Amino acid sequence: MTKASMGCSKVVSSLILVAFLSSSTFTLAFPVSNSGSGHGGGFGGGYPGLYPEFYEFSCPQVNDIVMSVLEKAIGREPRMAASLLRLHFHDCFVQGCDASILLDDSTTIVSEKKSGPNNNSIRGFDVIDEIKAKLEQACPQTVSCADILALSARGSTVLSGGPSWELPLGRRDSKTANLSGSNANIPPPNSTIQNLVALFNRQGLDEADLVALSGELLVNVVSFLFIIFLVSSGSHTIGVARCVTFKQRLYNQYGNNQPDETLERNYYNGLKTYCPRSGGDNNIFPLDLASPIRFDNTYFELILWGKGLLNSDEVLLTGNVGKTMELVTEYAKHEGIFFGQFAKSMIRMGNISPITGSNGEIRKNCYWINN
Ligand code: HEM
Repeated sequence: MTKASMGCSKVVSSLILVAFLSSSTFTLAFPVSNSGSGHGGGFGGGYPGLYPEFYEFSCPQVNDIVMSVLEKAIGREPRMAASLLRLHFHDCFVQGCDASILLDDSTTIVSEKKSGPNNNSIRGFDVIDEIKAKLEQACPQTVSCADILALSARGSTVLSGGPSWELPLGRRDSKTANLSGSNANIPPPNSTIQNLVALFNRQGLDEADLVALSGELLVNVVSFLFIIFLVSSGSHTIGVARCVTFKQRLYNQYGNNQPDETLERNYYNGLKTYCPRSGGDNNIFPLDLASPIRFDNTYFELILWGKGLLNSDEVLLTGNVGKTMELVTEYAKHEGIFFGQFAKSMIRMGNISPITGSNGEIRKNCYWINN
């Protein structure tokens, strides 16, 4: 495809996006099942105590219930898919996938919701709560909140056109939260590549997991005017992030009031319009591509073009770590390979230190530990 025709198809796609965004009743096509090579996954093929058929007899309708709530929630607001995927990530990186992120403050709990990476940023709690309420009706005290997070992350990916995978289940819920763990273990957006690799290694994840999982599904909450801006500037978006998370790249990347030189020029100029030097920290900047609400590999193309929004995206290519550079290029070319690795890496991430057996509990309400 020539550059001109690619640009053209992206204009068309962006216009389709405008139509999509103006339709509040749009329902996403479902299911799109691109099966990745998701069997077994990390930790030598699975985590003891977790297996896909865990609820086969105790709550056979679990996935149907999760999917029916997700379909409605994502149909109402496509960005919700992204938010739920991220919720699982922020849960798993803090004392394992144990739903600690869902706990509210109480006499014994200091909630993770106020940590640096989560505060004013993480969302999707109401949807998890709705799923839990339905599951409590259908199969009381059977399905853990941690498994609901994992099922919602997979369902959100599938509903957005991404891969599916065989999801090991049987996680139990924690009776504790870990605010300092949330601050320490979730990578900040200005991370160096060494930082990112180290924080992933700490969880038993490698560079392949880092690159595939960072190809995060970033769905837009864009305004009509913003789309017009993108179309006319030739930019493509892939995401939603607050200005505060990438501002440093625009105004002071190196401590000498200079911008990040890896940012493509037009893109950089556009970003500055929406993210001024002072103020506007909570302005949301969407990144998009030809298919803004689809889970696809254009994130990697954007990185190749100097249009990765976060520093942590960009350094996957420019951070001088051979393996991540290679993977970015490979995934930009081959969506199927990206999907396969993403599915595997999601299983590996979902296997981080789960609580199993008779430890932990099955919470009745995801926000509180049982009395
Ligand atoms: C590699 C390290 C990562 C860093 C530094 C990072 C950082 C960020 C930041 C700063 C935002 C914007 C938050 C805001 O402005 O409020 C974001 C959004 C997001 N991240 Fe990541 N992330 C990383 C990895 C991941 C992983 C592994 C996943 C999922 C598997 C993920 C999924 C998402 C999603 C889906 C969003 C959009 C959420 C929404 O629109 O509500 N991220 N990330």
